[in-house]
Amino acid sequence: MHVIETADALRKQVGEWRRAGGRIGFVPTMGNLHAGHLALVDRARELAGRVVVSIFVNPMQFGPGEDIDRYPRTLDRDCEALRRKDVDLLFAPPVEVIYPHGDRATTRVEVPGLSDILEGEHRPGHFTGVATVVAKLFNLVQPDVAVFGEKDFQQLAVIRRMVADLDMPVRIVGHPTVREDDGLAMSSRNGYLDDAERRIAPQLYRCLQEVADGLHAGQPIGKLEAMAMKSLERTGFRPEYVSIRRRTDLLPPEPADHELIILAAAWLGSARLIDNLPVDV
Ligand code: PAF
Repeated sequence: MHVIETADALRKQVGEWRRAGGRIGFVPTMGNLHAGHLALVDRARELAGRVVVSIFVNPMQFGPGEDIDRYPRTLDRDCEALRRKDVDLLFAPPVEVIYPHGDRATTRVEVPGLSDILEGEHRPGHFTGVATVVAKLFNLVQPDVAVFGEKDFQQLAVIRRMVADLDMPVRIVGHPTVREDDGLAMSSRNGYLDDAERRIAPQLYRCLQEVADGLHAGQPIGKLEAMAMKSLERTGFRPEYVSIRRRTDLLPPEPADHELIILAAAWLGSARLIDNLPVDV
């Protein structure tokens, strides 16, 4: 596996593969890799002859007071995991390579509307940071296909919209959320949970399943959302939102919409967990 830190070296290697006619699959990450990330790597491998993974903890997508300083950095362990998966290239740039003038002074990519709801309401500026870094990584890696986890469903929607709006020549593929045996969605931030919190954490997914049951039973959306918030509070979470949206654009559903998604964000101790569950009604 090539481990590359600079844009020039990355372009040179990817250029060689392209000239030889290879397809490039790309999995952008912030490291601290778990089985969820490795499933994205497997999917990229199915779709392309060469697989590139990036590890970059992107300062632009963290707001003031968020966890950038304690975000887990486990590069050696991540390299080992990627080598075992036969990844062709790991791009792990320092911040100066991605933001030579600093992230505040860099041109930004805004995806209006989609970036301002749900996660965007609670993390203003977050999706501008995500869209900007993903656009830059796409320009550097020039992948044919890029794979993203559906656990960050809104992020995936923002990236799809950016790619469509800016005519970026890359196919975006979503991969279903990988869960622990007890249902907890795998996430780098699960490591912030202490033992007691870890036992409570799967209740977030159970709560989404209860909302899905309610939807199937025809219960009103507003009532289900309010009940879910209360139930999470009772279990020990500090929920930010539980929201039922339509899957296509994450807007509130009209009566004729059948493809829905339940999205939730809740704090448990010092961990902010997000999860979602698609529902067809
Ligand atoms: O999902 C993530 O890990 C990040 O938001 C991403 C897509 C790598 C951009 O920094």
